[in-house]
Amino acid sequence: MDFDPEGLKAWLDHSYGELFARSSRTVEPIIIDVVDKIIPSNGTCHLLEVGCGSGIYIKRACDRNPNLTVTGLELQEKVADFARKNTTIWQIQDRVKIENTDIRRYRSDKQFDIETFFNLIYYFPKYERSDLLRHLGGFLNTGGQLILTTLCPANESSIQLMNLWASMTDGCGPLPHPDNVCDKLIDAGFDEIKCEQLIPAFYLFKAQKA
Ligand SMILES: C[S@@+](CC[C@H](N)C(=O)[O-])C[C@H]1O[C@@H](n2cnc3c(N)ncnc32)[C@H](O)[C@@H]1O
Repeated sequence: MDFDPEGLKAWLDHSYGELFARSSRTVEPIIIDVVDKIIPSNGTCHLLEVGCGSGIYIKRACDRNPNLTVTGLELQEKVADFARKNTTIWQIQDRVKIENTDIRRYRSDKQFDIETFFNLIYYFPKYERSDLLRHLGGFLNTGGQLILTTLCPANESSIQLMNLWASMTDGCGPLPHPDNVCDKLIDAGFDEIKCEQLIPAFYLFKAQKA
């Protein structure tokens, strides 16, 4: 039988897209811990969260700092609506604005102190990632921090399946190697880059806008 990459693509997309989006919940406790470490507990602070999903990390950040204001960006309209409803339930709607937009089209005069980009980089093809990171840097104040988490390739079957899904799905790209993320952050004009493995195959990157 001939190998049909389009058929495999369609099957992976149909069978696993939702599953992989949900799978980012498995690292929720780890990211909550990251949020607690990166958000100062007091003082004015503006956070931009890209690909905010349900808004759960925005809630944690707001719980941590009563003066924090947040803009959350979310590509899918229904998910953005869900996040917006959640902000009302959590009574943080006065401090949080959720926008239904693609980060690639997002423009803002407002500058942020911290930008979070959790579990999202493989939603962009490899060739777009340097430009994307540079675009993200454009919303940060000098000295502002970009905080990025991502799965990276590993010799483990669930990670390999995730990598196959991301590689075969239109508009997405393979899981990045940690060194490659660091190189792209440098290319994009960041410095003070730190990379930490939080659990096997799951990495945290911190980078400062130069
Ligand atoms: C794997 S989920 C991660 C959600 C959340 N950051 C987390 O870690 O739980 C990726 C989210 O980013 C959103 N997303 C994907 N591409 C995007 C883009 N270009 N601009 C804004 N949001 C995007 C998706 O709709 C989805 O809700």
